[in-house]
Amino acid sequence: MLDSPEISDAEYDALVRELQALEGEHPEMGSPDSPTQRVGGAPREGFVQVRHSAPMLSLDNALNDGELRDFDRRVGELLGAADYAYVGELKLDGLSMAVRYRGGVMVQAVTRGDGETGEDVTANARTIRSLPLRVEGGPEEFEVRGEVIMPDRAFQKLNAERDAQGLARYANPRNSAAGSLRVLDPSVTAARQLDFYAYLLLVNGEPALDSHWESLNRLSVWGFRVNKARALCRGLDELAAFIQKWHEGREGLGYEIDGVVAKVNSISQQRQLGWTAKAPRWAIAYKYPPRQAETVLENIEVQVGRTGALTPVAHLRPVVVSGVTVSRASLHNEDEIGRLGLAIGDTVVIERSGDVIPKVVRVQSHGAERRMFEMPKQCPVCGEGVVRAEGEAASRCINPDCPARLKETVRFFASRGVMDIDGVGEVLVNQLVDQGLVRSVADLYGLTAAQLTPLERMGDKSAERILRGIEESRKKPLPRVLNGLGIPFVGERTAQLLAETFGSLDAIAGADDVTLQRADEVGEKVSQSIRAYFENPKNRALVERLRAEGLQFTHTVVKREGGPLAGMTVVVTGTLPSLSREEAKALIEQAGGKAGDSVSKKTSYVVAGEAAGSKLQKAQQLGIPVIDEAKLRKLAGA
Ligand code: IVH
Repeated sequence: MLDSPEISDAEYDALVRELQALEGEHPEMGSPDSPTQRVGGAPREGFVQVRHSAPMLSLDNALNDGELRDFDRRVGELLGAADYAYVGELKLDGLSMAVRYRGGVMVQAVTRGDGETGEDVTANARTIRSLPLRVEGGPEEFEVRGEVIMPDRAFQKLNAERDAQGLARYANPRNSAAGSLRVLDPSVTAARQLDFYAYLLLVNGEPALDSHWESLNRLSVWGFRVNKARALCRGLDELAAFIQKWHEGREGLGYEIDGVVAKVNSISQQRQLGWTAKAPRWAIAYKYPPRQAETVLENIEVQVGRTGALTPVAHLRPVVVSGVTVSRASLHNEDEIGRLGLAIGDTVVIERSGDVIPKVVRVQSHGAERRMFEMPKQCPVCGEGVVRAEGEAASRCINPDCPARLKETVRFFASRGVMDIDGVGEVLVNQLVDQGLVRSVADLYGLTAAQLTPLERMGDKSAERILRGIEESRKKPLPRVLNGLGIPFVGERTAQLLAETFGSLDAIAGADDVTLQRADEVGEKVSQSIRAYFENPKNRALVERLRAEGLQFTHTVVKREGGPLAGMTVVVTGTLPSLSREEAKALIEQAGGKAGDSVSKKTSYVVAGEAAGSKLQKAQQLGIPVIDEAKLRKLAGA
């Protein structure tokens, strides 16, 4: 059940919004385990170090069947004549985290760190939907350990967004999970769609039940996500079969694993086996070989994207990597090719890791004949000039009307996460643009059945379906329309934040830099890009056509209800005369304000007490009003 949610993400978001509004009206109803706490609170200044209840050690590895047999033999010898069983689990490729519960409520989440102490990431962990904030029926205090991962789809989406924003891509889902959990701003974690899989249950730093298998089942009953791919294996043969099964099955999981973990099931036997200085003697990580292969780089082709960026793509001699035939790999940009020291004709090592398209990890040997790659000076599609701006990794075609850009723009506009128009994919878009039927995304809305049916591989039924999809897309909410415009640096999340802050496309199009930057996560670079977009008469004409076609240009903004501090962010620093830090925060929140942890230009007031330090200084630098406790009480109407 946990792996197949009953409602969609969008429905979930809508319900959380509704709850947020309710809690705004009735603050007494809010609680730390409310789903609204998952949206991410205020950014913090650093992480607090926390000591683990028991060290978080790593596991010994078995790299082949021989090493697995050695492990099993040692276990058998140490346990004497007794029978034993293993629990086989997948070894998820993420980062481990310990989560503490008190009185049924999640109170603390800590990263592994150096194994002895880790970082307190509670606020961020609260945003992970598969991690229960409240648990019924457990002991008064317990701890759950498990792995934080980023599913492949979320990873691909995140990298696509980073591409659109001109940011560096994450190399693999593990790095992006770590990067997403260890950020100071929990709302960033909230946007990243992390998952938590539980694999250990501890009470007072020790396993609480008699067997590991029971622990996993108990965790599942309590609402934790426990991997269904688990098995109780009686003996080495069954364990080997489990390992083999998931070696073949790993492609279909939707997240990355790097092996299987085998744990002796009985906790008393685990105690008997004990630990070495580094790892338990009762468990082993069987590592799958990395999904790599060697092949020859036959050519490098340059593709032109939606923003005009030229992307070199490796054409490879086809090779099978863990069951999938690979003939292309992404090379991202010129610098990446330089860093790899890559030339056409070389033998390269490629690796699959969460991405749709694998990547070249290194040059294995130079080809007898090598041809160095050079970024073309002319766009390979339209023949116009190519420039590489200072400080940018990408070279771009300068022609805004380049057909390659138009095709990519239309394809992106119609794609699943954007306007979601069924049937309008690469093949159709190429035909529509090549035949001059579509010269801008607005032309989609004027298409007729008579224009579509003569196209290759198009029947009456599919034409009808496409036209219906186009029709439906007129109802898509403003954030999608805004994302679909393809404004540089405005991806899905920024579009959502802009729509929520300003409520209409006209308000966004008419706003100056300072106003635009009132939206969360919008800085100078983004605001300038938005302004440049709407100052361009061509873009304005497009927007007017889309308005005439009836697309959604307004967005209902869910406002936090009432209160004298509504819409304001107040930061407390230093020691106040009578209120504790928590009381001051509660006072701010009860008055409808947001209690911030760090001072930025979006802060409305800083409440300074005795021994206020860097935050006070920052407020003074930024010219943010500094007030005392008495003034805060007055403002809050207390
Ligand atoms: S058990 C003492 N189970 O692998 C037992 N670990 O190399 C501690 N991991 O740090 C870990 N999936 O981050 C366990 N099903 C699983 C796991 C798992 C992934 C990671 C974990 C740990 C590392 C050990």
